[in-house]
Amino acid sequence: RIAYVNGRYLPHAQAGVHIEDRGYQFADGVYEVCEVARGFIVDSVGHLNRLDRSLSELRIAWPVKRAVLVHIMREVIARNRVRNGMVYLQVTRGVAPRDHVFPAESTPSALVVTAKRTDPAASAKRAAAGIKVITVPENRWERVDIKSVGLLPNVLARQQAKEAGAQEAWFVDADGKVTEGAATNAWIVTKDGHLVTRPADSGILRGITRTTLMDVAKKLGLKVEERGFTVDEAKSAREAFITAATTVIMPIVAIDGHPVANGHPGSIALSLREAFFDVAE
Ligand code: PDD
Repeated sequence: RIAYVNGRYLPHAQAGVHIEDRGYQFADGVYEVCEVARGFIVDSVGHLNRLDRSLSELRIAWPVKRAVLVHIMREVIARNRVRNGMVYLQVTRGVAPRDHVFPAESTPSALVVTAKRTDPAASAKRAAAGIKVITVPENRWERVDIKSVGLLPNVLARQQAKEAGAQEAWFVDADGKVTEGAATNAWIVTKDGHLVTRPADSGILRGITRTTLMDVAKKLGLKVEERGFTVDEAKSAREAFITAATTVIMPIVAIDGHPVANGHPGSIALSLREAFFDVAE
């Protein structure tokens, strides 16, 4: 496998960053994960717009021009012969002697791009089986709208899910409402067949898959309600599912051990999953 690191394409074994990279020392950086389908980057414009927003919120400079970044992403995808998979990119505030204060403006941002293949058949199999989620108290900072590499609460929550035999953890805020998953957005389907997901004003990352899914829902004539929902509402919902670039749409069959949709993947989630790729470009 080949990775791009600060201007060079290197074999993974040699693809390291400096010990004083601020991403390594302070999690002072942002990232994006895009799905690659049939050789194309899904929703690349949406991902790059969100990257631009994350960078400007943290006042980190673009490491290269946007068009150059797209070129690098395509190059890494090509060099790894990825037809279906993921491309990951990370931008940090660069390498400088350890100091909480920003380094000199002349310090270039650091850029890493990697890509890997995934197996669409394995993903389809997971969707056909459905996934289990647990719920955990929301303990992240208020700026989760920024796609920062500071993911310690997300790491701990996902590990807790794994140890409980589940695949995702949903964060639940002080009002008992689900915010989102450790690395996915959270959705339910009401008895009337409406899709419900939390508004993306605060408390969640505005998922690119989430936005595209809203277009898919419109095409299928499904109503979307942007509002919070409680764990109890989710447990008794007609269906529940998660979205992310890595999983696209995954139906949920259990929440905290309580079966959802009779313990089978919901038909609406599965039809949304099928329709998704016709809309995403
Ligand atoms: N995670 N919420 C959080 C906290 C996320 O980390 C992600 C994505 C999403 C979904 O966003 P999108 O639809 O743009 O992928 C929501 C990526 C995939 C990750 O960390 O691996």
